[in-house]
Amino acid sequence: MCGIVGYIGKKNSLPILIKGLKRLEYRGYDSAGVAYIKDKNIKIVKTVGKINNLDKLLNYNDESFIGIGHTRWATHGSVDTTNSHPHQAGSITIVHNGILENYQELKKILTNKGYTFKSDTDTEVLCAYIDYEYTKTKNILDALNNCMKVFEGSYATAIMVKDIPNKLFVMKKDSPLVIGIGEQENYIASDISAYADETSAYIILEDMEIGQIEKDNISIYKNKKEIKYNIEQVEQDAFDSDKNNYEHYMLKEISEQENLMDKLNNIYLKNLDKIMDISKYNKIHIIGCGTAYHAGMIGKYLIENYSDFEVNTYIASEYRYQKIFADDKTLVIAASQSGETADTLACIKKVKKYGCKTLGIVNVKNSSIARAVDEVIYTEAGQEVAVASTKAYSSQVYIFSLLALKLGITKGLINKNEINKEYEKLPSYISKLTNYDYEDIISKIWQAKDVFYLGRGIDYISMLEGSLKLKEISYVHSEAYQAGELKHGTISLIEKDTPIIALISDETIALKTISNIKEVKARGAYVVLLIKEDLNINIDKECYDKIIEINATDNLLQPILNVIPLQLIAYNIAKKRGCDIDKPRNLAKSVTVE
Ligand code: M6R
Repeated sequence: MCGIVGYIGKKNSLPILIKGLKRLEYRGYDSAGVAYIKDKNIKIVKTVGKINNLDKLLNYNDESFIGIGHTRWATHGSVDTTNSHPHQAGSITIVHNGILENYQELKKILTNKGYTFKSDTDTEVLCAYIDYEYTKTKNILDALNNCMKVFEGSYATAIMVKDIPNKLFVMKKDSPLVIGIGEQENYIASDISAYADETSAYIILEDMEIGQIEKDNISIYKNKKEIKYNIEQVEQDAFDSDKNNYEHYMLKEISEQENLMDKLNNIYLKNLDKIMDISKYNKIHIIGCGTAYHAGMIGKYLIENYSDFEVNTYIASEYRYQKIFADDKTLVIAASQSGETADTLACIKKVKKYGCKTLGIVNVKNSSIARAVDEVIYTEAGQEVAVASTKAYSSQVYIFSLLALKLGITKGLINKNEINKEYEKLPSYISKLTNYDYEDIISKIWQAKDVFYLGRGIDYISMLEGSLKLKEISYVHSEAYQAGELKHGTISLIEKDTPIIALISDETIALKTISNIKEVKARGAYVVLLIKEDLNINIDKECYDKIIEINATDNLLQPILNVIPLQLIAYNIAKKRGCDIDKPRNLAKSVTVE
């Protein structure tokens, strides 16, 4: 979701801005633009579509040593060049990530003062308001400080001022922004992955801070006072954005799950004491969005079933506004790959007011959620570039399994030695599933209009994730259902050859799911059955068309295996349909607005 970059220094800014924007492409966007100073004039170039479209419009002979750039993910106004960033009003040119909530009110004030607007965006209003304050105060730092008192909502903003051509300014609230530190040059970015090759040191701008960036100096202000800042170091290997001969990042990331399990075993399984002891809390709430929410639902199931402790899960965008029952004996666990999801972050801020303890299960180090929680367990999945989350999901489920394991051991419910062996076998089991040939199945279902996913209990949760994967990257409509629920309405949609993907890994309710599969088979459905091997039940060959056997592991770990064929089925359908797998339409990797 919107990416911001900026550069000031001794090199031509344009290639640097474009490189940074390309690095932030993974966040998702629909248009892109840059602004730079050439011969004391601010030039703006922007367009819809991919960064390559912007690249073609740029004149690289225009040497400029200061500039800002942006990838826009539309929130206010349609996807068109006028609405894309940068925006300009008077002396001020800006790029912005976030939502200015009171922009209508501010627009009225500004219109009465003679400002006119070309776009439908909140950003143009934000820009004009800065210009209005700057015209009044004649001091940009005072102007930005005044604006922060008026602006409601979220903003990470990079600002150029026409008559201050040797400085960039930034300000931030509730959207991420970092400043990369170079030698006689400095950078601005939504996240440091944009410039991790150029610099290893960076500053994380905190809420309500203003930055003034020169090529050889950085000053940070809060409430009109200059403040000290910490310098963070980029972790080596944190940003492996090489596709390594894989056709898509998504396929690369699915394949990486095998080694990831080994890595996690080494980091955490061998040091279970590093995993938080959750036994002292009275309540556990798990929050997240999308795939992270699904991982949280698996977490609930694992903690409840293997360590006998009731857990509630919530979608973060709901939880942040709903009545909650929480206090200082409540542990709130936030799962997030990016660590920047606005709704999840807002929940953390909310529950702190209730005195809750917070734990983040986060992939991106030093991200906003990682910094906001009391404790963090990193999922160590490495950079996930594809918008569709795969390895981040399995690593989140892995961490949830460890929370359940530790609690189960503390309560004397789980035998550690036996289960350790199963953790160690995960890589080889995953390898078997990633090497499976899915072509037969794909050739039968890739053209389907709808695909239904069925499962019961924990298998249903895996199916929610499988269905989400298919929807987001292949644009095929799909729904996941608790197998027993289908006949209460949705079975009316089943006709000849409607694809049904069913999962059975829980022996205790396997026969029930089989009956439900027979119901759809009787109506002509094409059934792909994913089944845990060695289940002690008889399966009638007539109740499925294709079968994939998944290695049997301990039930605590089975969901990590169950999701792999679902990820690959979604990937291969999307590939056959010619979809832009790594950057599906309308989606953003890092959802920094609510
Ligand atoms: O970065 P987060 O894990 O907080 O992101 C949450 C969701 O936006 C994310 O999981 C989304 O659902 C993925 N695109 C799913 O593949």
